[in-house]
Amino acid sequence: MALLIGVPKETAAGEKRVATVPEVVEKLIKLGFRVAVQSGAGDAANCSDEAYRAAGAEVLPDAATLWGRADIVFKVRPPSPDEVALMREGGMLVGFVWPAQNPALMEQLAARKATVLAIDALPRQLSRAQKMDALTSQAGVSGYRAVIEAANAFGRFFNGQITAAGKVPPAKVFVAGAGVAGLAAIGTAANLGAIVRANDTRAEVADQVVSLGGEFVKVDYEEEGSGGGGYAKVMSEGFQAAQREMYAKQAREVDIIITTALIPGKPAPRLITAEMVQTMRPGSVIVDMAAEQGGNCELTVPGEAVVRHGVTIVGYTDLASRLAKQSSTLYATNLLRLTEDLCKTKDGTVDVNFDDDAIRGLTVIKDGAVTWPAPPPKLPPAPPKPKADAAAPAAAKAKGHGHGSVEPMSGKTLAIVFAIGAVLFWFVGAYAPASFLQHFTVFVLACFVGYMVVWNVTPSLHTPLMSVTNAISSIIAIGALVQVAPPLTAAGAADRPNTLILVCAVVALVLTAINMFGGFAVTRRMLAMFRK
Ligand code: NAI
Repeated sequence: MALLIGVPKETAAGEKRVATVPEVVEKLIKLGFRVAVQSGAGDAANCSDEAYRAAGAEVLPDAATLWGRADIVFKVRPPSPDEVALMREGGMLVGFVWPAQNPALMEQLAARKATVLAIDALPRQLSRAQKMDALTSQAGVSGYRAVIEAANAFGRFFNGQITAAGKVPPAKVFVAGAGVAGLAAIGTAANLGAIVRANDTRAEVADQVVSLGGEFVKVDYEEEGSGGGGYAKVMSEGFQAAQREMYAKQAREVDIIITTALIPGKPAPRLITAEMVQTMRPGSVIVDMAAEQGGNCELTVPGEAVVRHGVTIVGYTDLASRLAKQSSTLYATNLLRLTEDLCKTKDGTVDVNFDDDAIRGLTVIKDGAVTWPAPPPKLPPAPPKPKADAAAPAAAKAKGHGHGSVEPMSGKTLAIVFAIGAVLFWFVGAYAPASFLQHFTVFVLACFVGYMVVWNVTPSLHTPLMSVTNAISSIIAIGALVQVAPPLTAAGAADRPNTLILVCAVVALVLTAINMFGGFAVTRRMLAMFRK
């Protein structure tokens, strides 16, 4: 019997998101499930009851009926005690649960013999799990919305403009913390035309900041900021002091600060002090995305926008919900991907398979037994680090070129290869006609030069090399040009080319032009990726 997926209306104050949208309902039904939605569940996210009905869902009048009938409940926020009380014994719940922060909720759910899949407990480092990573999808929406909130509170353009009424300088935005939300904010602000700078304790994000159009500002203090699993750690006192100094300088210079800095399981680091706010120009804006975890700014009031020392400090904790249709659609898709993994048989049943690392990770309660925290997932072995011992550079030197992975021939083998080559060449020279020998010499030299060029180029540059050789091979253009306008004869007159040859030559010229310019354009774009 196909299981019934139920989607209640979110009960948290101000929550506009809904756990599934009509487009996804259709796909859940194709997986063999039945779907029921509480009446009005999607209203705030522009998903009407009619749209759900049209997609094939049943619309139920109230929460009690829905929780009572659903085999699996899809939710966004963790359920309230009242909601858990409505849940069917032995039912299944999928949504944000935050088991570490909500021990009482975990107990209540276990008492109902529930199976609970906490989407926030997904092992995000598994590349296979990324399609279900709701933390990432929601953080991306929040980062975008943070910039929109900043633009709303800011009294000027983001981009620089030269108008008849005068010159407008671009806004300067500083993003503290370049994780998923921070990177989304950097991209959005840069697209609006602002000058964007960003800082993060994890140095590895610097390239990502630059690729989105921002400038990475380093703290003048050497310390590794990675705390494992792609997350940050609490930094030393020395680092924090150096970071405060840099942030104070940024606060004096920029118009907008967006803070996103978080450390798992710890209160948000305090990065913007009251003094820094005081030094900002009146009319400046701070959007504190860490407000729910205590805030990155000392003066943030969670859930509110306040004005302090002439600076608007936005501490909204519902940024994703403020873009409800977008965040609901992405969230619904994350849950659909999870459901596909739970129901490989496409018959509307689920298999909570503990051999699957992603599913094991997010299952926090199974049939009433608490299974959280899950053991760390088995990751593919990291690529071996290059050995830092003295032998390595010596070995590399002995190889004599950058290709590294292939052993060079020994002197003896090389001599034998050359001797065989010379004998073959002599053989061809002695017996082949003279014209062949000329072509053959060019061929052998071309092979040699080609081999040397390819072999001495780093493997990562082989693709641009290929495209540039492709462009060069367009030498055919010269042949076509000669056919279109044949060389003048001694008497100064050109032979009229045959019409068919002329047409072929023009077609060849057009095609080669595409090949040539395309080749160079692709090479340029690829090489740009390697430029720092
Ligand atoms: P988050 O929300 O926990 O933290 C936000 C950012 O704040 C992080 O980049 C962190 O380094 C930074 N931060 C913390 N303390 C700071 C301080 N004192 N000063 C400045 N910055 C500070 O992290 P989020 O966005 O959820 O993910 C963190 C990283 O993990 C991201 O870069 C993301 O790409 C990566 N990630 C990796 C996955 C994978 O391995 N497949 C999956 C999901 C995320």
